[in-house]
Order: sequence, then structure tokens, then C-alpha cells
Amino acid sequence: MKSAQFLVELGRNSYPVQVGRGLLEDIGESARDAGLSAGRCAVITDANVGRLYATPVLKNLQDHGFRPQLVEIAPGEVSKSLATLDWVYHRLADTELDRDSAIFALGGGVVGDLAGFAAATYLRGLPLVQMPTSMVAQVDSALGGKTAVNLDRAKNLIGAFYQPRLVLVDVVMLASLPEREFREGLAEVIKYGAIMDAPLIEWLEEQMPAILARDLDPLSELVERSLRHKAVVVSRDEREGGLRKILNFGHTLGHALEASTSFGNYLHGEAVAIGMSAAARLSTRHCGLRLEDAERLRRLLTAAGLGTELPKGWLSGEFISALRLDKKRQGDSLEFVLLDRLGHALTRKLSFDQIIEVT
Ligand SMILES: NC(=O)c1ccc[n+]([C@@H]2O[C@H](COP(=O)([O-])OP(=O)(O)OC[C@H]3O[C@@H](n4cnc5c(N)ncnc54)[C@H](O)[C@@H]3O)[C@@H](O)[C@H]2O)c1
Ligand SMILES: [Zn+2]
Repeated sequence: MKSAQFLVELGRNSYPVQVGRGLLEDIGESARDAGLSAGRCAVITDANVGRLYATPVLKNLQDHGFRPQLVEIAPGEVSKSLATLDWVYHRLADTELDRDSAIFALGGGVVGDLAGFAAATYLRGLPLVQMPTSMVAQVDSALGGKTAVNLDRAKNLIGAFYQPRLVLVDVVMLASLPEREFREGLAEVIKYGAIMDAPLIEWLEEQMPAILARDLDPLSELVERSLRHKAVVVSRDEREGGLRKILNFGHTLGHALEASTSFGNYLHGEAVAIGMSAAARLSTRHCGLRLEDAERLRRLLTAAGLGTELPKGWLSGEFISALRLDKKRQGDSLEFVLLDRLGHALTRKLSFDQIIEVT
């Protein structure tokens, strides 16, 4: 079995990340190695993931002295709500967890964010293990400590920074992920290349057919490289003061696109792909990114099966209103993440007029 392990360095909140194949069947041992006490614990998952993977996870935990209770929520973003959180708290109370009891988050970003927030708050904080199963969760959300639920009016409005004690990533689970969700997650991988790793762009160009065929070798490498990048950024900037901002490349326009279409048309990564493509055009105009490199990024996104063009007629009032709601707005301008070359990001203030010019 091939696997890699590294540490997210956050002083006394440091934690190990394991990436490999078949790690699901090592969860009990890995959790014990990470210092978690056996005994009562909860495995929070959604119905799709639970159907596929809950049985081996529960069995392995039992084999290592844990007494896990399965807590299964309905799949999808609707479950990232206060109502579901309330229901989850009740299940945790039924299970009579104590302060040493671990919460295992087995699922995509929805489960990770919700279970993470439950772990951060229940009994003022329980040890958390992230077991990401979707591409988005494996390359991005499982690491970094952001947890949240949504309010009707806005995503991720209620949350906490809460670091897990262990992140265990089994790439074999990506095999069952629906195609659209698989490709969506690749947008975040391409983002790491664009902002901090030019050789990753080249590697992705070569490996894309094998990645899309879900060959486990390139998938393991892709997940590991992505998480190592995120670990470096998070270690240097746990609470998004400075460096961590570059992770928002493509996200300003992406979020506006998601919000102005009421989150109905695009998955997050699909909107971010379009946002990155537009941000690359802005970079060419304002930061000296070479035109051929902007084009190269667009071609890679296309090769991953992601769209790169804003929908026709979309530059409407709704888009401007969505941009105005951006947390990074200062008057009529926004702080934007741009590239001065492939593999290097910086932030620039751009006016709404400058943004609209290239979109
Ligand atoms: N905390 C962070 O830093 C961070 C970063 C990025 C995204 N997010 C959040 O993550 C969420 C999106 O995550 P997501 O895209 O993983 O969505 P998701 O959790 O809804 O998963 C997508 C779908 O895939 C299914 N699924 C997951 N893993 C599977 C597998 N291995 N096999 C078969 N089906 C599987 C799920 O049941 C779901 O239907 C959003 O709420 C977003 O806000 C958080
Ligand atoms: Zn994102």
C-alpha cells in the first residue's frame, strides 16, 4: 500500500495528513496513533457516502476499540443548515459522548464543514478526524480548519476555525464520485498550479487523460501535491490575514456567478473555473501575465471538462449587485487575486469598471 504522510504545522495545533490507497481500512489504527482515545465516538456522513463506505469504517473502528455511532444526514448543500446541525447535536447527545470522544467526518465538503462545526461546538470542542471523500474535500476543504453552516441568505455565515487532529485521505473513494463532482474538484487543483506551482500546470497537462480515467497513481499524486500546498499556506496564515488570500484566485467572480444564478446553475468549482479564466485575462491587462499563459490556463481548464466563458448576457445588474456584496469590496473597487506569471499570485485593487471590461 502506497501512502504519504506530512504535518500541517500549527504549533500545538499541528496535525498529520495521510494520503494513500485503502487508508479507510486503517482508520482505527491511524486514529489511535494520532492520540485519540478509543471508546464512544460518532461517524458523521451523508446517505450517499454512508451507503458505500460506512460499514468498513465502523468495522475497523470497532476492531480498534472504538464504539462508533453512525449519524447520517441527507446529501447535498441543503444539509449545511442550522436545522441539520440541531438534529446532529441531538444524535450526539443520544450517544452520550464525552470530551474525549472523537467525531469522524466521512464525506464531501458538506459533511466536513457541518461535522467540523459540530465538533468545534459540542461540549465546547471534541477531537475531529476529517475523512474527505469528494475531490473538493480531498484537495481543499478537509484541511485548513474552516468549518461552517449556511443561513438562508448567505453561505458559510456561521462558523469557526477549528483544526482537525488527523486528516485521512483515501483516494480509492474517488472512484465512486459522480463525473461532474469529480471534474469540479479539479478546478481547485489547477488553482494551486496557477497561484504557486507552475510545474504542477505542466504535470496536469500531461496527466489529464489518466486523471480523468481515475488512474490511482496520478490521483494520489494530485491530492498529495494539492494538500501540501494548502498545508503550507494554512501554516503560514491560519486565519486568512494575508497569504491565504491567494487561495481565492478565481473565487471573486466565481462567487458572484454562483450568487447571481442563485446557486442553481453552477457547481462551485465550475464557477471558479470561469472566474479563473476571467482573472487570467485581467492579469494579462493589469499584471503582465503573458497572453499565451492565460490561454494555456484556459486550455487546461477545458481539458478538465470545465467551462471558461461567462454566460452570454450575464453582465447584468445582478452580477454587479453580487460583486457589491463581496466581503473584499472597498467602495467601488475590490481586492482581486491576479497572476503576474503562471505559478505566482499577488493581490491588486481593481475598480468595478476595470473588472467588467474583460468579463
Ligand atoms: N472548509 C473549507 O475550506 C471549504 C473549502 C471548499 C469548499 N467547502 C464547502 O464544501 C462544500 C462542497 O463540497 P463537495 O463538493 O464535496 O460537496 P458534497 O459534500 O455535497 O459532495 C458532493 C456529492 O458527492 C457525493 N459524494 C461525496 N463523496 C462521494 C464518493 N466518494 N462517492 C460517491 N459520492 C460521493 C455526496 O453525497 C454529494 O452528493 C460546500 O458547502 C463548500 O462551501 C469548504
Ligand atoms: Zn473554492
